[in-house]
Amino acid sequence: METQTLDKKTQATDFLPLNGTDYVEFYVGNAKQAAHFYKTAFGFQSLAYAGPETGVRDRASYVLMQDKIRLVLTSPLHSDHPIAEHLKKHGDGVKVLALWVDDAYDAFEQTTMRGAEPYQQPQTLKDEHGEVHTSGIKLYGETAHMFIERKNYNGIFLPGYQEWKSDYNPTPTGLKYVDHCVGNVGWHKMNDWVNFYEEVMGFKNILTFDDKMISTEYSALMSKVMSNGNGYVKFPINEPAEGKKKSQIEEYLEFYEGEGVQHLALATDHIVETVTELKKRGIEFLHVPNTYYDDLLTRVGHIDEDLEPLKALGILVDRDDEGYLLQIFTKPLEDRPTVFFEIIQRKGARSFGAGNFKALFEAIEREQELRGNL
Ligand code: FE2
Repeated sequence: METQTLDKKTQATDFLPLNGTDYVEFYVGNAKQAAHFYKTAFGFQSLAYAGPETGVRDRASYVLMQDKIRLVLTSPLHSDHPIAEHLKKHGDGVKVLALWVDDAYDAFEQTTMRGAEPYQQPQTLKDEHGEVHTSGIKLYGETAHMFIERKNYNGIFLPGYQEWKSDYNPTPTGLKYVDHCVGNVGWHKMNDWVNFYEEVMGFKNILTFDDKMISTEYSALMSKVMSNGNGYVKFPINEPAEGKKKSQIEEYLEFYEGEGVQHLALATDHIVETVTELKKRGIEFLHVPNTYYDDLLTRVGHIDEDLEPLKALGILVDRDDEGYLLQIFTKPLEDRPTVFFEIIQRKGARSFGAGNFKALFEAIEREQELRGNL
């Protein structure tokens, strides 16, 4: 395991400068109800809406916001729609990881000339609040990266959306920004996608976990963490590895019926408070055995937090060479064992540690066994 600190020269030659994650779009079976769930359970706020009332005839999209995080939840209105096909195959899941750029036309040019497949040709969207440039490229499975340039726009979200004012505004839970988004890819496909991020998007592989580092008694997987030049955007990629039983990545691939986003990690500055609140609102988290905490401080060294609340909530702690981080993972957010959220608080660590991977996978395996899928 090696962590590289990206130097200034790398940033200066960045051909795809990214300002961060712009939004994450989910295709869901019932966007109206999903929006209620993400507001109630996670404390997202109503931001914008597009649908029949705004002149969009074939779909409804609800945009939710919490600090810098924007989620778009979209449902088709008829069965003969590509989104309906997507839902039939994958169930609810992430369709678009949108990246905030200064030049969406150039982002498209730079990535497609390096081999990216177009998802959406560059276009300019306008309304009375200005204009937005967008473009998109294909990613693993049926997922896509959109590039969003909004420097000449001061509307609520994007042209075509209207402000969504709601009388129902549950309090936020302290979620601040998207820390990373993890993709599950098929057998022996991890390096193809690592190459995609390196060559097409100019990312660096900042961390590698091989199957010996993340194997449990039953299964194994490999993971590589890809980061853009300024470190604002991180996309770890997992692939299954041979084990005695079916790995959780295989379970995902089977139920998502293909490659896709496994989890979104949402950052908080107060993980104990955030997770306490999420639990109160009905969110279920994976559990680690209490023995995880027995030698925790020996493994990770001094931490500022009291151990008892971490243990009571099941929050994991890990370390890289710059500091430590606290993490916890929800159970899948759908009936299919596919997409879940991670809640993360960074205390100096900008990368990841290997210890939690193993604890996470053992926890997932216990759930997999309950589903009869191990
Ligand atoms: Fe993660």
